Amino acid sequence: MKSSFAFLLLVSGAVMNIEPTPEAALLYPYGLDQSDRKNPKLDDGTSKRLSLSVPFTFYSKEYRSLYVNNNGVISFDTKVKQYTPDPFPLVDGRPFVAPYWGDVDNVLGGDVFYRQTTDPALLKLITQNINQYFPSIPFTATWAFVATWDHVAYYGSTSNKGNTFQAVLTTNSNTSFVILNYKDIQWTTGVASGGDPKTGLGGTPAHAGFNNGDETNYYNIPSSRTEAVINITQTSNVNVPGRWVFQVDDFKVTGVPTEAPHAAASKSCWL
Ligand SMILES: *[C@@H]1O[C@H](CO)[C@@H](O)[C@H](O)[C@H]1NC(C)=O
Ligand SMILES: *[C@@H]1O[C@H](CO)[C@@H](O)[C@H](O)[C@H]1NC(C)=O
Repeated sequence: MKSSFAFLLLVSGAVMNIEPTPEAALLYPYGLDQSDRKNPKLDDGTSKRLSLSVPFTFYSKEYRSLYVNNNGVISFDTKVKQYTPDPFPLVDGRPFVAPYWGDVDNVLGGDVFYRQTTDPALLKLITQNINQYFPSIPFTATWAFVATWDHVAYYGSTSNKGNTFQAVLTTNSNTSFVILNYKDIQWTTGVASGGDPKTGLGGTPAHAGFNNGDETNYYNIPSSRTEAVINITQTSNVNVPGRWVFQVDDFKVTGVPTEAPHAAASKSCWL
């Protein structure tokens, strides 16, 4: 009795010393309790065309609708059902954001969620994050689109592996940003892209980046289409492991030495 009472005192003392601010979550809230919609369970499936309540500017062009494509892509203008990623720039003019372009199969596991929102609590959090990463850019978010791939399987999988990642589009109607969050990446490649059914590795690995559709302007996150993309949860351009953030109205890359050779660029972002 006595020793457990002393133990209780120790525990309560320890609790009082804990910092009141918990570590910020990498993923913004998502799921059915956030009134998210879900993509149909269909290999290479997509959302329907989603009309945006606020236009979104991407590489200087304004878009009023988008698709959330199962295979790790948010596209403007046209759906993307392609499952093996091609190198950027694409030659056929498809503008899109690729958080993790690879052969997702949500029939075998996981879900693809999305919503557009003006929820003040979420916009406040996104605004705080953007202001922290881009202190010289005046920005208060007025709209956001949140797409989340939750523990999604790969095509041909014989494992329980699942990837969890998120892409957030946000704007104040003048400046726009994309936030990519990589929470848990367990596979890189579907079987139809040369991947191994048991490991989801090998073949042509997933691609993360941006393609503006003009065959000239694009950006590849370092490690895209290499086996090292499995470690994208540890990399960042804003010093938050697993988070990559870009200004996209007039596309800019910060936090990555883009002039350096590829190897140096990917090395520095591991720090
Ligand atoms: C719009 O954004 C640009 C940079 O993207 C900035 O220079 C300008 O001040 C902004 N205008 C307003 C009204 O916020
Ligand atoms: C991923 O990172 C771990 C260490 O963090 C490393 O051992 C491994 O080789 C990396 N994998 C690839 C494919 O680069």
